Amino acid sequence: MNEKIEALKQEISQYTVADQDELEVYRLRFISRKSVIGDLFGEMKTVAPEERKAMGVRLNDLKNAAQNKFKELIASLEEQQNGQPDDVPDLTLPPVPDSLGAIHPLTQTQNRVVEIFERMGFNVADGPEIEDDFHNFTALNFPPNHPAREMQDTFFIEKNSGEDKQDIVLRTHTSSVQVRLMESQKPPIRAIMPGRVYRNEAISARAHCVFHQVEGLYVDRNVSFADLKQTLLHFARELFGSETKIRLRPSYFPFTEPSAELDIWWGTETEADRRVTKGTGWLEIGGCGMVDPNVLESCGIDSEEFTGFAFGMGFERIAMIKYQIKDLRLFTENDVRFLKQFRAFG
Ligand code: PHE
Repeated sequence: MNEKIEALKQEISQYTVADQDELEVYRLRFISRKSVIGDLFGEMKTVAPEERKAMGVRLNDLKNAAQNKFKELIASLEEQQNGQPDDVPDLTLPPVPDSLGAIHPLTQTQNRVVEIFERMGFNVADGPEIEDDFHNFTALNFPPNHPAREMQDTFFIEKNSGEDKQDIVLRTHTSSVQVRLMESQKPPIRAIMPGRVYRNEAISARAHCVFHQVEGLYVDRNVSFADLKQTLLHFARELFGSETKIRLRPSYFPFTEPSAELDIWWGTETEADRRVTKGTGWLEIGGCGMVDPNVLESCGIDSEEFTGFAFGMGFERIAMIKYQIKDLRLFTENDVRFLKQFRAFG
């Protein structure tokens, strides 16, 4: 009888059921009046009187084990059914949130800048990032060996100092696209050229060897410096707010005459304001000027008949001002903690 009890204990501890029918089989075998355990209680009368007490304890243990297991089996069946009610998805569950990406702050800036100029009637033009010397320098009134070329620390892909073969460079500004445009179109030309440019500069919080510019060009009859100034003022007010003030400071570029630096008024109220503006309250965002007649002529445009203005700005600089970003390197490091913050602006 001891052996039978042990064997049943074993069987009970390993028992599993998959559904209500199997649970009923268990109940009939171990719990009901006519169960195997009930039979064993019937056999008690055959046990010798001195062993009867100990055997009774064992048999009661078995009965309790069978009942506890029965409760466990009921509970586990209920759990299974709640978890997967016939494989139908539970439509009352809250949805798993979609994790949305964010548009890169430089792309957002570019989109906004393009939108503002498109409304003023400018087209968007594009050109190659690998340029020849003519389009990056010579046509823009940088004579060969002129010191102005030093202003733009150039990455050379091929160095060919011969008459028939030119240097091949990574474009140092998108002004090269202006040349391509003037070569292929007749005035009036009114376009902006956003794009990536390269300069051999040490990477720091304020400079990078790869950055993004937008340049603009307007060539037609009677285009004046006043037109340039008004266009830039309107642009700055659209981008930074209707109270924005701009300043044009005399400067030098080989391809414009006269030339100016474009500053916007930032203020000197806080310590940070004074730091970013080096104490002046003005922040430089780009260069501009009237297209030099030499440039028009090298692109086949009659400089007696037509005049034009051009300007160029850095997207990184604009985005840093707009979003108060202190370090330019953040734009290229692809740290999601940085990028995630621009979701709301998209
Ligand atoms: N190409 C100039 C630069 O990258 C910017 C500029 C463009 C200045 C057009 C004047 C006119 O520095």
